[in-house]
Amino acid sequence: TVYHERWRPQVHFSPKAHWTNDPNGMVYSNGTYHLFFQYFPGGTTWGPMHWGHTISKDLIHWQEQPVALYPDSLGYIFSGSAVADVHNTSGFGKGGKTPLVAIYTNHDPKGEHDGKNDFQNQSIAYSLDEGKTWTKYSGNPVLKNPGIRDFRDPKVNWVETVKKWIMTLATQDHITFFSSPDLKNWTKESEFGKTLGAHGGVWECPDLLAFDHQGKKVWVLIVNINPGGPNKGSATQYFTGDFDGHTFTPGDSITKWIDYGADEYAGITWSNTGKRHVFLGWMSNWMYANEVPTKTWRNAMTIPRELSLVKENGHFYVSSLPVKELQASATTVSRRTNLKANGDVYMCTAPLYLTMKADELKDFTMSFHYGAGAELVIGFDKASNTWFIDRTTTGEHGFNKEFAARHTAPRIATGKGLELTLVVDETSVEMFADHGVITMTDIFFPNAPLQKISITADKELLIRQWQLSKLKSIWK
Ligand code: FRU
Repeated sequence: TVYHERWRPQVHFSPKAHWTNDPNGMVYSNGTYHLFFQYFPGGTTWGPMHWGHTISKDLIHWQEQPVALYPDSLGYIFSGSAVADVHNTSGFGKGGKTPLVAIYTNHDPKGEHDGKNDFQNQSIAYSLDEGKTWTKYSGNPVLKNPGIRDFRDPKVNWVETVKKWIMTLATQDHITFFSSPDLKNWTKESEFGKTLGAHGGVWECPDLLAFDHQGKKVWVLIVNINPGGPNKGSATQYFTGDFDGHTFTPGDSITKWIDYGADEYAGITWSNTGKRHVFLGWMSNWMYANEVPTKTWRNAMTIPRELSLVKENGHFYVSSLPVKELQASATTVSRRTNLKANGDVYMCTAPLYLTMKADELKDFTMSFHYGAGAELVIGFDKASNTWFIDRTTTGEHGFNKEFAARHTAPRIATGKGLELTLVVDETSVEMFADHGVITMTDIFFPNAPLQKISITADKELLIRQWQLSKLKSIWK
Protein backbone atom coordinates (compact mmCIF):
# COMPACT_ATOMS: atom_id res chain seq x y z
CA THR A 1 0.00 0.00 0.00
CA VAL A 2 1.17 3.53 -0.76
CA TYR A 3 0.03 6.28 1.56
CA HIS A 4 0.67 9.81 0.44
CA GLU A 5 -1.90 11.94 2.19
CA ARG A 6 -0.80 15.21 3.71
CA TRP A 7 1.07 14.60 7.01
CA ARG A 8 1.29 10.83 6.48
CA PRO A 9 4.49 9.55 8.13
CA GLN A 10 6.68 7.92 5.46
CA VAL A 11 9.07 5.90 7.65
CA HIS A 12 6.84 5.27 10.68
CA PHE A 13 3.94 2.89 11.09
CA SER A 14 0.46 4.42 11.15
CA PRO A 15 -2.79 2.58 10.43
CA LYS A 16 -4.40 3.05 7.02
CA ALA A 17 -7.40 4.65 8.69
CA HIS A 18 -8.80 5.52 12.10
CA TRP A 19 -7.51 6.00 15.60
CA THR A 20 -4.51 4.39 17.28
CA ASN A 21 -2.77 4.76 20.63
CA ASP A 22 -0.48 2.34 22.50
CA PRO A 23 1.58 -0.39 20.84
CA ASN A 24 0.45 -3.78 22.19
CA GLY A 25 1.38 -7.46 22.04
CA MET A 26 4.78 -6.92 20.47
CA VAL A 27 6.24 -10.38 19.87
CA TYR A 28 8.78 -11.83 17.45
CA SER A 29 7.84 -15.20 16.01
CA ASN A 30 9.29 -17.25 13.13
CA GLY A 31 10.98 -14.32 11.40
CA THR A 32 8.05 -11.92 11.83
CA TYR A 33 7.71 -8.96 14.15
CA HIS A 34 4.14 -8.57 15.30
CA LEU A 35 2.87 -5.19 16.38
CA PHE A 36 -0.66 -4.93 17.73
CA PHE A 37 -2.01 -1.55 18.65
CA GLN A 38 -4.85 0.12 20.53
CA TYR A 39 -7.29 0.74 17.72
CA PHE A 40 -10.75 2.16 17.20
CA PRO A 41 -11.94 1.07 13.75
CA GLY A 42 -15.08 3.20 14.08
CA GLY A 43 -13.49 6.64 14.10
CA THR A 44 -10.50 8.96 14.37
CA THR A 45 -10.81 9.68 18.08
CA TRP A 46 -10.42 7.28 21.04
CA GLY A 47 -13.35 4.85 21.34
CA PRO A 48 -14.13 1.22 22.24
CA MET A 49 -10.70 -0.36 22.04
CA HIS A 50 -9.71 -3.22 19.76
CA TRP A 51 -6.27 -4.62 18.96
CA GLY A 52 -5.24 -3.69 15.42
CA HIS A 53 -2.42 -5.76 13.93
CA THR A 54 0.51 -5.18 11.62
CA ILE A 55 3.51 -7.34 10.73
CA SER A 56 7.06 -6.77 9.53
CA LYS A 57 10.11 -8.80 8.59
CA ASP A 58 12.53 -5.94 9.27
CA LEU A 59 10.83 -3.63 11.82
CA ILE A 60 10.61 -0.93 9.13
CA HIS A 61 8.20 -2.10 6.40
CA TRP A 62 4.75 -2.95 7.77
CA GLN A 63 1.79 -4.82 6.36
CA GLU A 64 -1.43 -4.07 8.17
CA GLN A 65 -3.58 -7.11 9.02
CA PRO A 66 -7.25 -7.52 9.96
CA VAL A 67 -8.26 -6.49 13.49
CA ALA A 68 -6.99 -9.17 15.92
CA LEU A 69 -9.11 -8.69 19.05
CA TYR A 70 -12.61 -7.26 19.34
CA PRO A 71 -14.38 -6.04 22.51
CA ASP A 72 -16.38 -8.80 24.24
CA SER A 73 -18.76 -9.33 27.16
CA LEU A 74 -15.92 -8.52 29.58
CA GLY A 75 -15.29 -5.15 27.96
CA TYR A 76 -12.96 -3.29 25.62
CA ILE A 77 -9.52 -4.69 24.80
CA PHE A 78 -7.02 -2.41 26.51
CA SER A 79 -3.24 -2.58 26.38
CA GLY A 80 -1.17 -5.68 27.04
CA SER A 81 1.54 -7.95 25.73
CA ALA A 82 2.05 -11.24 23.88
CA VAL A 83 4.46 -14.12 24.36
CA ALA A 84 5.55 -17.17 22.40
CA ASP A 85 4.76 -20.01 24.81
CA VAL A 86 7.56 -22.27 23.53
CA HIS A 87 7.25 -24.84 26.36
CA ASN A 88 3.47 -24.91 25.94
CA THR A 89 3.01 -24.11 29.65
CA SER A 90 -0.52 -22.95 28.85
CA GLY A 91 -1.48 -26.19 27.11
CA PHE A 92 -2.94 -24.10 24.26
CA GLY A 93 -0.38 -25.59 21.82
CA LYS A 94 -1.55 -28.40 19.57
CA GLY A 95 0.39 -30.80 17.36
CA GLY A 96 3.72 -29.27 18.38
CA LYS A 97 2.65 -25.73 17.40
CA THR A 98 3.91 -23.00 19.70
CA PRO A 99 0.95 -20.88 20.79
CA LEU A 100 1.23 -17.11 20.78
CA VAL A 101 -0.54 -15.93 23.92
CA ALA A 102 -1.84 -12.39 24.33
CA ILE A 103 -2.31 -11.04 27.86
CA TYR A 104 -4.44 -7.90 27.94
CA THR A 105 -6.78 -5.81 30.07
CA ASN A 106 -10.53 -6.18 29.65
CA HIS A 107 -11.97 -2.76 30.47
CA ASP A 108 -15.67 -2.90 31.28
CA PRO A 109 -17.21 0.49 30.35
CA LYS A 110 -20.42 -0.33 32.20
CA GLY A 111 -18.62 -0.95 35.49
CA GLU A 112 -16.75 2.30 34.99
CA HIS A 113 -19.95 4.17 34.27
CA ASP A 114 -21.61 2.69 37.36
CA GLY A 115 -18.80 4.05 39.53
CA LYS A 116 -17.35 0.62 40.40
CA ASN A 117 -13.62 0.24 40.96
CA ASP A 118 -13.10 -3.32 39.68
CA PHE A 119 -13.82 -2.78 35.97
CA GLN A 120 -10.31 -3.61 34.72
CA ASN A 121 -9.33 -7.29 34.72
CA GLN A 122 -6.63 -9.29 32.92
CA SER A 123 -7.57 -11.80 30.23
CA ILE A 124 -5.73 -14.01 27.73
CA ALA A 125 -6.22 -15.24 24.16
CA TYR A 126 -4.13 -17.57 22.01
CA SER A 127 -3.27 -18.01 18.36
CA LEU A 128 -2.03 -21.14 16.59
CA ASP A 129 -1.72 -19.51 13.16
CA GLU A 130 0.95 -16.84 13.72
CA GLY A 131 -1.39 -14.21 15.07
CA LYS A 132 -3.99 -14.35 12.28
CA THR A 133 -6.85 -15.61 14.42
CA TRP A 134 -7.24 -15.59 18.19
CA THR A 135 -9.27 -17.67 20.62
CA LYS A 136 -10.16 -16.08 23.91
CA TYR A 137 -9.65 -18.37 26.92
CA SER A 138 -12.92 -19.67 28.39
CA GLY A 139 -11.62 -19.01 31.93
CA ASN A 140 -11.25 -15.23 31.44
CA PRO A 141 -10.52 -13.09 33.31
CA VAL A 142 -7.39 -14.83 34.58
CA LEU A 143 -6.51 -12.08 37.04
CA LYS A 144 -9.38 -10.39 38.86
CA ASN A 145 -9.34 -6.85 40.09
CA PRO A 146 -9.05 -6.58 43.90
CA GLY A 147 -10.65 -3.10 43.88
CA ILE A 148 -8.04 -0.85 42.27
CA ARG A 149 -9.49 1.56 39.68
CA ASP A 150 -6.36 1.57 37.52
CA PHE A 151 -5.36 -2.08 37.21
CA ARG A 152 -4.04 -2.64 33.72
CA ASP A 153 -1.53 -3.07 30.91
CA PRO A 154 0.04 -6.48 31.75
CA LYS A 155 3.52 -7.08 30.34
CA VAL A 156 4.53 -10.72 30.67
CA ASN A 157 8.04 -12.21 30.48
CA TRP A 158 9.49 -15.65 31.19
CA VAL A 159 11.98 -15.33 34.06
CA GLU A 160 14.40 -18.24 33.94
CA THR A 161 15.74 -17.97 37.52
CA VAL A 162 12.29 -18.82 38.93
CA LYS A 163 11.08 -20.69 35.82
CA LYS A 164 7.83 -18.73 35.83
CA TRP A 165 5.98 -16.13 33.86
CA ILE A 166 6.21 -12.73 35.55
CA MET A 167 3.49 -10.18 34.93
CA THR A 168 4.40 -6.52 35.47
CA LEU A 169 1.13 -4.66 36.01
CA ALA A 170 0.40 -0.94 36.36
CA THR A 171 -1.68 -0.49 39.51
CA GLN A 172 -2.48 3.19 39.83
CA ASP A 173 0.55 4.76 41.55
CA HIS A 174 2.80 1.70 41.68
CA ILE A 175 3.71 -1.56 39.93
CA THR A 176 2.49 -4.96 41.11
CA PHE A 177 4.34 -8.13 40.07
CA PHE A 178 2.49 -11.44 39.69
CA SER A 179 3.85 -14.88 38.78
CA SER A 180 2.34 -17.85 36.97
CA PRO A 181 3.44 -21.32 35.85
CA ASP A 182 0.90 -21.45 32.99
CA LEU A 183 -0.35 -17.92 32.13
CA LYS A 184 -3.74 -18.88 33.61
CA ASN A 185 -3.15 -18.85 37.37
CA TRP A 186 -1.53 -15.77 38.84
CA THR A 187 -0.06 -15.15 42.30
CA LYS A 188 0.88 -11.74 43.66
CA GLU A 189 4.61 -11.38 44.33
CA SER A 190 5.32 -7.79 45.35
CA GLU A 191 4.72 -4.08 44.84
CA PHE A 192 7.13 -1.37 43.78
CA GLY A 193 7.32 2.38 43.41
CA LYS A 194 4.81 4.13 45.65
CA THR A 195 7.52 6.49 46.90
CA LEU A 196 9.98 6.45 44.00
CA GLY A 197 10.04 8.03 40.56
CA ALA A 198 7.64 10.53 39.02
CA HIS A 199 4.10 10.64 40.40
CA GLY A 200 2.48 13.51 38.53
CA GLY A 201 -0.05 11.12 36.99
CA VAL A 202 -1.25 7.52 36.78
CA TRP A 203 1.25 4.72 36.07
CA GLU A 204 0.52 2.79 32.86
CA CYS A 205 2.12 0.36 30.40
CA PRO A 206 5.13 -1.08 32.25
CA ASP A 207 7.89 -3.38 31.03
CA LEU A 208 10.62 -5.39 32.75
CA LEU A 209 13.84 -6.37 30.98
CA ALA A 210 17.34 -7.56 31.81
CA PHE A 211 20.68 -6.53 30.35
CA ASP A 212 23.96 -8.40 30.75
CA HIS A 213 26.54 -6.08 32.23
CA GLN A 214 30.02 -7.48 32.82
CA GLY A 215 28.67 -10.93 33.59
CA LYS A 216 25.94 -9.63 35.86
CA LYS A 217 22.26 -8.99 35.12
CA VAL A 218 21.00 -5.43 35.45
CA TRP A 219 17.21 -5.07 35.34
CA VAL A 220 15.29 -2.17 33.90
CA LEU A 221 11.70 -1.42 34.86
CA ILE A 222 9.92 0.83 32.38
CA VAL A 223 6.89 2.73 33.68
CA ASN A 224 4.83 5.03 31.49
CA ILE A 225 3.08 7.89 33.26
CA ASN A 226 0.24 10.23 32.28
CA PRO A 227 0.37 13.13 32.94
CA GLY A 228 3.58 14.16 34.73
CA GLY A 229 6.15 13.86 31.93
CA PRO A 230 9.25 16.11 31.90
CA ASN A 231 7.77 18.31 29.15
CA LYS A 232 4.13 17.90 30.27
CA GLY A 233 1.57 15.22 29.54
CA SER A 234 2.45 11.58 28.95
CA ALA A 235 6.01 10.15 28.99
CA THR A 236 8.13 7.06 29.71
CA GLN A 237 10.22 6.82 32.90
CA TYR A 238 12.39 3.90 33.99
CA PHE A 239 14.22 2.48 36.97
CA THR A 240 17.45 0.46 36.96
CA GLY A 241 18.11 -2.20 39.59
CA ASP A 242 17.70 -5.87 40.38
CA PHE A 243 14.82 -8.33 40.05
CA ASP A 244 15.17 -11.65 41.88
CA GLY A 245 12.05 -13.22 40.40
CA HIS A 246 9.89 -11.79 43.18
CA THR A 247 10.88 -8.22 43.99
CA PHE A 248 12.37 -5.27 42.13
CA THR A 249 15.10 -3.44 44.07
CA PRO A 250 16.20 -0.10 42.56
CA GLY A 251 19.91 0.64 42.33
CA ASP A 252 19.44 4.37 42.91
CA SER A 253 16.63 6.87 43.39
CA ILE A 254 17.15 8.92 40.22
CA THR A 255 14.05 9.59 38.07
CA LYS A 256 15.14 8.63 34.54
CA TRP A 257 13.29 9.08 31.25
CA ILE A 258 13.54 6.98 28.09
CA ASP A 259 12.47 9.97 26.00
CA TYR A 260 12.27 13.62 27.09
CA GLY A 261 10.28 14.83 24.09
CA ALA A 262 6.53 15.39 24.20
CA ASP A 263 5.66 12.59 21.79
CA GLU A 264 6.81 9.18 22.88
CA TYR A 265 4.36 7.32 25.11
CA ALA A 266 3.34 3.80 26.16
CA GLY A 267 6.67 2.51 24.84
CA ILE A 268 7.66 -1.05 25.67
CA THR A 269 9.82 -3.79 24.06
CA TRP A 270 9.29 -6.80 21.81
CA SER A 271 9.27 -10.20 23.47
CA ASN A 272 11.08 -13.29 22.18
CA THR A 273 14.00 -11.35 20.65
CA GLY A 274 16.71 -13.03 22.74
CA LYS A 275 19.33 -10.61 24.06
CA ARG A 276 18.19 -7.84 21.76
CA HIS A 277 15.83 -5.25 23.28
CA VAL A 278 13.77 -3.43 20.67
CA PHE A 279 11.56 -0.63 21.96
CA LEU A 280 8.74 1.23 20.24
CA GLY A 281 6.31 3.84 21.55
CA TRP A 282 3.20 5.67 20.47
CA MET A 283 4.27 8.94 18.84
CA SER A 284 1.81 11.29 20.48
CA ASN A 285 0.76 12.75 23.82
CA TRP A 286 -2.57 12.45 25.61
CA MET A 287 -2.62 16.27 25.94
CA TYR A 288 -3.66 16.60 22.29
CA ALA A 289 -3.68 13.14 20.64
CA ASN A 290 -7.43 13.41 19.92
CA GLU A 291 -7.03 16.83 18.27
CA VAL A 292 -4.05 16.61 15.92
CA PRO A 293 -5.08 17.75 12.42
CA THR A 294 -4.81 14.55 10.36
CA LYS A 295 -8.00 13.45 8.63
CA THR A 296 -8.22 9.76 7.74
CA TRP A 297 -6.05 8.35 10.55
CA ARG A 298 -4.84 9.66 13.88
CA ASN A 299 -1.40 9.01 15.34
CA ALA A 300 1.60 6.85 14.54
CA MET A 301 4.37 4.85 16.24
CA THR A 302 8.01 5.85 16.83
CA ILE A 303 10.91 4.29 14.98
CA PRO A 304 11.80 0.96 16.62
CA ARG A 305 14.80 1.56 18.88
CA GLU A 306 17.57 -0.69 20.08
CA LEU A 307 18.05 -0.26 23.83
CA SER A 308 21.36 -0.71 25.60
CA LEU A 309 22.70 -0.10 29.08
CA VAL A 310 25.35 2.54 29.71
CA LYS A 311 27.00 3.94 32.82
CA GLU A 312 27.35 7.69 33.33
CA ASN A 313 28.59 9.21 36.59
CA GLY A 314 28.38 5.83 38.31
CA HIS A 315 24.72 5.28 37.44
CA PHE A 316 23.09 3.02 34.89
CA TYR A 317 21.08 4.61 32.08
CA VAL A 318 19.27 3.19 29.08
CA SER A 319 20.33 4.51 25.71
CA SER A 320 18.15 4.30 22.59
CA LEU A 321 19.16 4.34 18.94
CA PRO A 322 17.14 3.64 15.77
CA VAL A 323 17.37 -0.07 14.89
CA LYS A 324 20.12 -0.78 12.36
CA GLU A 325 17.50 -2.09 9.91
CA LEU A 326 16.61 1.54 9.12
CA GLN A 327 20.03 1.98 7.43
CA ALA A 328 18.86 -0.14 4.52
CA SER A 329 16.42 2.66 3.59
CA ALA A 330 19.10 5.37 3.67
CA THR A 331 21.00 6.94 0.74
CA THR A 332 23.75 9.38 1.67
CA VAL A 333 23.35 12.83 0.14
CA SER A 334 26.10 14.68 1.95
CA ARG A 335 29.10 13.49 3.92
CA ARG A 336 31.63 15.90 5.40
CA THR A 337 34.57 15.74 7.76
CA ASN A 338 36.10 18.55 9.83
CA LEU A 339 33.37 21.03 9.20
CA LYS A 340 33.65 24.42 10.92
CA ALA A 341 29.98 24.84 11.55
CA ASN A 342 28.62 28.25 10.79
CA GLY A 343 25.74 29.15 8.62
CA ASP A 344 26.01 25.96 6.58
CA VAL A 345 22.95 25.19 4.46
CA TYR A 346 21.86 21.84 3.03
CA MET A 347 18.96 21.50 0.65
CA CYS A 348 16.93 18.51 1.72
CA THR A 349 13.44 17.03 1.90
CA ALA A 350 11.99 14.59 4.43
CA PRO A 351 12.23 11.83 5.44
CA LEU A 352 15.88 11.93 6.39
CA TYR A 353 18.50 10.42 8.64
CA LEU A 354 21.37 12.47 9.99
CA THR A 355 24.38 11.67 12.13
CA MET A 356 27.06 14.01 13.40
CA LYS A 357 29.98 13.97 15.81
CA ALA A 358 32.01 16.74 17.41
CA ASP A 359 34.90 16.56 19.85
CA GLU A 360 33.55 19.35 21.96
CA LEU A 361 30.19 20.53 23.10
CA LYS A 362 29.33 24.16 22.42
CA ASP A 363 26.19 26.12 21.63
CA PHE A 364 24.73 24.74 18.51
CA THR A 365 21.45 24.98 16.60
CA MET A 366 20.08 23.11 13.62
CA SER A 367 17.04 24.57 11.84
CA PHE A 368 14.72 22.73 9.50
CA HIS A 369 13.08 25.24 7.18
CA TYR A 370 9.54 24.75 5.87
CA GLY A 371 9.17 28.03 4.00
CA ALA A 372 7.47 31.30 4.94
CA GLY A 373 9.55 31.51 8.13
CA ALA A 374 8.27 28.23 9.53
CA GLU A 375 11.03 26.21 11.15
CA LEU A 376 11.77 23.39 13.53
CA VAL A 377 14.81 24.06 15.67
CA ILE A 378 16.86 21.54 17.59
CA GLY A 379 20.10 22.06 19.46
CA PHE A 380 22.23 22.27 22.56
CA ASP A 381 22.43 25.17 24.99
CA LYS A 382 25.73 25.25 26.82
CA ALA A 383 24.77 27.69 29.58
CA SER A 384 21.92 25.50 30.82
CA ASN A 385 23.54 22.22 29.70
CA THR A 386 20.34 21.22 27.92
CA TRP A 387 19.23 19.72 24.63
CA PHE A 388 16.13 21.19 23.08
CA ILE A 389 13.53 20.92 20.34
CA ASP A 390 11.52 24.01 19.51
CA ARG A 391 8.39 23.51 17.38
CA THR A 392 6.82 26.86 18.25
CA THR A 393 6.74 28.07 14.63
CA THR A 394 6.80 24.77 12.74
CA GLY A 395 3.23 24.74 11.48
CA GLU A 396 -0.33 24.06 12.66
CA HIS A 397 -0.70 24.35 16.41
CA GLY A 398 -4.05 26.03 17.01
CA PHE A 399 -5.77 22.73 17.81
CA ASN A 400 -4.36 22.75 21.36
CA LYS A 401 -2.74 25.47 23.44
CA GLU A 402 -0.04 23.13 24.78
CA PHE A 403 1.26 22.26 21.34
CA ALA A 404 3.43 25.22 20.32
CA ALA A 405 6.33 24.79 22.71
CA ARG A 406 10.06 24.46 23.26
CA HIS A 407 11.01 21.21 24.97
CA THR A 408 14.22 20.61 26.88
CA ALA A 409 16.24 17.74 28.30
CA PRO A 410 19.25 17.84 30.63
CA ARG A 411 22.56 16.54 29.35
CA ILE A 412 23.44 13.35 31.24
CA ALA A 413 26.53 12.19 29.35
CA THR A 414 29.80 13.24 30.94
CA GLY A 415 32.09 13.08 27.90
CA LYS A 416 33.34 16.24 26.17
CA GLY A 417 32.12 15.40 22.69
CA LEU A 418 28.69 15.20 21.19
CA GLU A 419 27.13 12.54 19.05
CA LEU A 420 23.77 13.12 17.45
CA THR A 421 21.44 10.95 15.38
CA LEU A 422 18.22 12.36 13.93
CA VAL A 423 15.30 10.74 12.18
CA VAL A 424 13.10 13.38 10.56
CA ASP A 425 9.84 12.28 8.95
CA GLU A 426 7.08 14.41 7.39
CA THR A 427 5.63 15.22 10.81
CA SER A 428 8.15 14.12 13.43
CA VAL A 429 11.69 14.47 14.68
CA GLU A 430 13.46 11.91 16.85
CA MET A 431 16.70 13.16 18.34
CA PHE A 432 19.17 10.69 19.87
CA ALA A 433 21.84 12.73 21.63
CA ASP A 434 25.11 11.51 23.14
CA HIS A 435 24.65 8.06 21.64
CA GLY A 436 21.01 7.91 22.70
CA VAL A 437 21.40 8.56 26.43
CA ILE A 438 19.10 11.50 25.86
CA THR A 439 16.30 10.97 23.39
CA MET A 440 13.61 13.48 22.40
CA THR A 441 10.65 12.86 20.10
CA ASP A 442 8.38 15.65 18.89
CA ILE A 443 5.66 15.73 16.25
CA PHE A 444 4.66 18.81 14.22
CA PHE A 445 2.37 19.68 11.30
CA PRO A 446 4.12 21.87 8.71
CA ASN A 447 2.15 23.71 6.04
CA ALA A 448 4.79 23.16 3.36
CA PRO A 449 7.43 20.50 2.67
CA LEU A 450 10.90 20.64 4.22
CA GLN A 451 13.22 22.70 1.99
CA LYS A 452 16.57 22.98 3.72
CA ILE A 453 18.57 22.55 6.89
CA SER A 454 20.91 25.15 8.33
CA ILE A 455 23.39 24.96 11.20
CA THR A 456 24.44 27.80 13.43
CA ALA A 457 27.07 27.07 16.04
CA ASP A 458 29.69 28.58 18.26
CA LYS A 459 32.42 29.33 15.73
CA GLU A 460 34.85 27.14 17.66
CA LEU A 461 32.72 24.03 17.16
CA LEU A 462 34.43 21.58 14.86
CA ILE A 463 32.10 18.95 13.43
CA ARG A 464 34.31 15.91 12.84
CA GLN A 465 31.73 13.88 10.98
CA TRP A 466 28.51 14.82 9.31
CA GLN A 467 26.35 12.51 7.26
CA LEU A 468 22.98 13.39 5.83
CA SER A 469 20.89 10.65 4.20
CA LYS A 470 17.61 10.55 2.43
CA LEU A 471 15.24 7.79 3.63
CA LYS A 472 13.03 5.83 1.22
CA SER A 473 9.35 5.76 2.02
CA ILE A 474 8.39 2.47 3.66
CA TRP A 475 5.09 2.49 1.77
CA LYS A 476 6.59 2.17 -1.72
C1 FRU B 1 -2.23 4.33 27.86
C2 FRU B 1 -3.61 3.77 28.10
C3 FRU B 1 -3.50 2.42 28.79
C4 FRU B 1 -4.80 1.76 28.42
C5 FRU B 1 -5.00 2.26 27.00
C6 FRU B 1 -6.44 2.46 26.62
O1 FRU B 1 -2.16 5.22 26.80
O2 FRU B 1 -4.36 4.68 28.86
O3 FRU B 1 -3.28 2.51 30.19
O4 FRU B 1 -4.72 0.37 28.49
O5 FRU B 1 -4.31 3.48 26.90
O6 FRU B 1 -6.56 2.73 25.27
